[in-house]
Amino acid sequence: MINVAIDGPAGAGKSTIAKKAAKDLGFIYVDTGAMFRAMALYMVRSGADLDNSGDIAAKVGDADIDIVYEDGIQCVMLNGENVNGLIRTEEISNAASKVAVVKEVRQKMLVLQKDIAKKHDVIMDGRDIGSAVLPDADLKIYLTASVDVRAMRRYKENTEKGMASDLDAIKTDIRERDERDMTRAEAPLTKVPDAVEIDSSDMTIDEVVAKIEGLIREIR
Ligand code: DC
Repeated sequence: MINVAIDGPAGAGKSTIAKKAAKDLGFIYVDTGAMFRAMALYMVRSGADLDNSGDIAAKVGDADIDIVYEDGIQCVMLNGENVNGLIRTEEISNAASKVAVVKEVRQKMLVLQKDIAKKHDVIMDGRDIGSAVLPDADLKIYLTASVDVRAMRRYKENTEKGMASDLDAIKTDIRERDERDMTRAEAPLTKVPDAVEIDSSDMTIDEVVAKIEGLIREIR
């Protein structure tokens, strides 16, 4: 199996790019952030105190998270319910970043993610894929972009969806999530030494996809 790991901060374009490259090359795209988001949705629904690791850890066992594919699209299942349409809100984004610091949550995800990569050629994106989930990946990419560029992308996305949006609030939010993702004790976001770094600030989506597909073809 060929395993490709893509890590990087929120808003760097990981999922858009990984999805395209996986489709072009016939790999399975695994969006690990969506799994943390499903866990966050469970915790919000069950009234967990998101700032209390003990409370979250006590509830982890009741959340059954799985991934299935329908027409090549990843569906995240939470206790049998497809929650794809419920996990992209700002509330769940922030909650996901909080539940992701909890060791018991990460252990559960790790087992699931490793298992998927064992069975399929995957492009898996997240924060700790190259460092913790797939340390022996055939190719590791660290995809990043400046805070300003990432905030502007999010702002445009929101405006296109007709959602009211505040650029400064988005920037603050991105900085807070970066800080939490990069400084947590458990599997923090970091660029491992054997990762290829790509800064997408001044690149189009197609340019980044072409670059990554080129790197994958070299190892295939
Ligand atoms: O990539 P995303 O924004 O959908 O991820 C949601 C949150 O989950 C993010 O704040 C960090 C966390 N996450 C993580 O800790 N490890 C991963 N492999 C993927 C996501």
